[in-house]
Amino acid sequence: MKKQPLILFFSILLILSNFISESYGKKQIEGLSHLYKEKLKNNTSIDRSHFNGTHYFSGAKIHAQEGMKEKDRIERLPGQPQVKFKQYGGYVTVNRTAGRAFYYYFVEAQHSEKSSLPLLLWLNGGPGCSSLAYGAMQELGPFRVHSDGKTLYKNKFAWNNAANVLFLESPAGVGFSYSNTTADFVTGGDRKTAVDNYAFLLNWLERFPEYKNRDFYISGESYAGHYVPQLAHTILSHNKEAKKTIINLKGIIIGNAVINDETDVKGMYEYFASHALISDETSFQIMKYCDFSPNATTQSDECGEAASEADRNINHIDIYNIYAPLCSNSSITEKPKKNSAMSTDPCSDYYVHAYLNRPEVQKALHANVTNIPYDWQPCSGVLKNWQDSSSTVIPLLKEFMASGLRVWIFSGDTDGRIPVTSTKRSIKLMRLPIQTFWHPWYLGGEVGGYTQVYEGNLTFATVRGAGHQVPSFQPARALSLIMHFLAGTELPNSSRY
Ligand SMILES: *[C@@H]1O[C@H](CO)[C@@H](O)[C@H](O)[C@H]1NC(C)=O
Ligand SMILES: *[C@@H]1O[C@H](CO)[C@@H](O)[C@H](O)[C@H]1NC(C)=O
Ligand SMILES: *[C@@H]1O[C@H](CO)[C@@H](O)[C@H](O)[C@H]1NC(C)=O
Ligand SMILES: *[C@@H]1O[C@H](CO)[C@@H](O)[C@H](O)[C@H]1NC(C)=O
Ligand SMILES: *[C@@H]1O[C@H](CO)[C@@H](O)[C@H](O)[C@H]1NC(C)=O
Ligand SMILES: *[C@@H]1O[C@H](CO)[C@@H](O)[C@H](O)[C@H]1NC(C)=O
Ligand SMILES: *[C@@H]1O[C@H](CO)[C@@H](O)[C@H](O)[C@H]1NC(C)=O
Ligand SMILES: *[C@@H]1O[C@H](CO)[C@@H](O)[C@H](O)[C@H]1NC(C)=O
Ligand SMILES: *[C@@H]1O[C@H](CO)[C@@H](O)[C@H](O)[C@H]1NC(C)=O
Ligand SMILES: *[C@@H]1O[C@H](CO)[C@@H](O)[C@H](O)[C@H]1NC(C)=O
Repeated sequence: MKKQPLILFFSILLILSNFISESYGKKQIEGLSHLYKEKLKNNTSIDRSHFNGTHYFSGAKIHAQEGMKEKDRIERLPGQPQVKFKQYGGYVTVNRTAGRAFYYYFVEAQHSEKSSLPLLLWLNGGPGCSSLAYGAMQELGPFRVHSDGKTLYKNKFAWNNAANVLFLESPAGVGFSYSNTTADFVTGGDRKTAVDNYAFLLNWLERFPEYKNRDFYISGESYAGHYVPQLAHTILSHNKEAKKTIINLKGIIIGNAVINDETDVKGMYEYFASHALISDETSFQIMKYCDFSPNATTQSDECGEAASEADRNINHIDIYNIYAPLCSNSSITEKPKKNSAMSTDPCSDYYVHAYLNRPEVQKALHANVTNIPYDWQPCSGVLKNWQDSSSTVIPLLKEFMASGLRVWIFSGDTDGRIPVTSTKRSIKLMRLPIQTFWHPWYLGGEVGGYTQVYEGNLTFATVRGAGHQVPSFQPARALSLIMHFLAGTELPNSSRY
């Protein structure tokens, strides 16, 4: 029996899908097929070993940041409506030797008590997708881009209603974040990303010292299911090593997140079958013949055929939101189309691409100051390789619970990529005692989703009717979720609240 390379069926389905896990654009799909070909060489071995503390203390340096905060102040973005809060954007050098600098966009809370509200970092996934493209401009940021690619409108459900929100383009090669050492684009991985993200944070806090002791939370979706816990682990390790609180981390929240490869993939096929996207027979074949365990190296032909059959069935829908329309015309329009923060235009990737590539926008953002030799993309076209991706982050989640951090895991229930069935399977593996049994949670008299709280401060919550990018598809529910998370209160169990 001919064995097929593992990479063909497993990595392509999971890791590579995650490379584009937040993009619908043609360009990103082309980027993916490049990677796909790379992988087909059967010559890349991604290190899947557990993420641990051994490589962190490589000396993240704090550089002087005086005067840089004021230079980063964004007076006004082109086409922006009037707002009262302050915005900042600019570069933080994360590694001088290599010439790596990360781009950030920061919005202060639009709240009179902003000086007591927490600092919330948001990370998108991929690997390779930009937090500016998705988090800031399509999900939880204060503005969204009109279909003219030139003007902005307000998102009244922006998360800076609840926190001071920091968006970071990471790792180098994503969006405006760059490296002067192009070898970095083929040597990236979870470990290097965590080290650089940590160096970014230390230096950013030096630039914005008023946030140094502020309660700090890390949030993110998709492949940020790796970035968020790995950065949190790095912070905890440094605090422990220094025997003091260097960064005042209080909790993490991840949505439709890559948590545990084996359960993520099984849950995905389970979702495809239970949502009538693939046949029960195909699902049965996959479960019977595919080996999704972390130590599997090859797959049988039967597995390959069933996985290909599943692919043929789902190819023509938006797997990131299975009931959503596709983008049928990616052109920018002369005049802005009618829009609403309550619904998402499936072509918005293209509007954001047009907007962020405008020279006057880049100038206002203090972005691309070194004339990066390629355009800004929502998901990176230059990151070509990913060296390490641990097969699970469950040990990290357990560590956080033991350290008293708040841990929330949410899931938009119409996402087919890292669906609710995957997340449920991953949490089940943790074998946690239940504190508050499964119940609907409410917003505005309607069921916002379902939740179950586990002993040790882990909350699981679904968001009803949301795809992979939860705040894009259910902005009001997402804002309610983050407010409860930050306040440390359980989601309301009755429509009376
Ligand atoms: C890829 O690697 C696997 C395991 O190392 C091997 O069995 C398979 O024959 C290789 N495939 C190709 C196309 O080289
Ligand atoms: C495998 O990859 C290494 C480095 O990534 C390269 O030097 C080598 O030539 C490749 N081998 C084959 C057979 O493609
Ligand atoms: C940590 O990870 C490294 C690299 O994967 C590995 O060599 C080492 O054994 C691990 N250490 C512990 C304590 O798990
Ligand atoms: C800077 O990056 C280079 C190349 O990626 C790496 O070898 C070096 O260890 C990094 N330095 C620090 C302080 O992280
Ligand atoms: C990268 O190179 C450019 C051009 O030499 C330089 O201006 C910039 O400061 C370098 N970036 C970093 C982070 O060192
Ligand atoms: C592979 O891992 C599974 C559990 O994930 C284990 O049951 C199995 O024995 C392992 N196989 C090998 C060859 O190590
Ligand atoms: C796409 O939209 C553009 C701008 O609105 C329009 O000019 C063009 O005719 C449309 N193309 C199709 C095929 O509908
Ligand atoms: C940076 O600016 C140059 C023009 O100076 C442009 O060609 C390039 O596409 C821009 N790159 C990014 C990442 O914005
Ligand atoms: C859970 O969080 C609460 C406050 O948020 C804290 O008082 C309690 O000690 C935490 N429980 C555990 C087991 O960490
Ligand atoms: C619902 O939540 C409230 C407030 O948290 C709590 O007092 C009450 O016991 C809960 N009711 C049920 C049925 O769980």
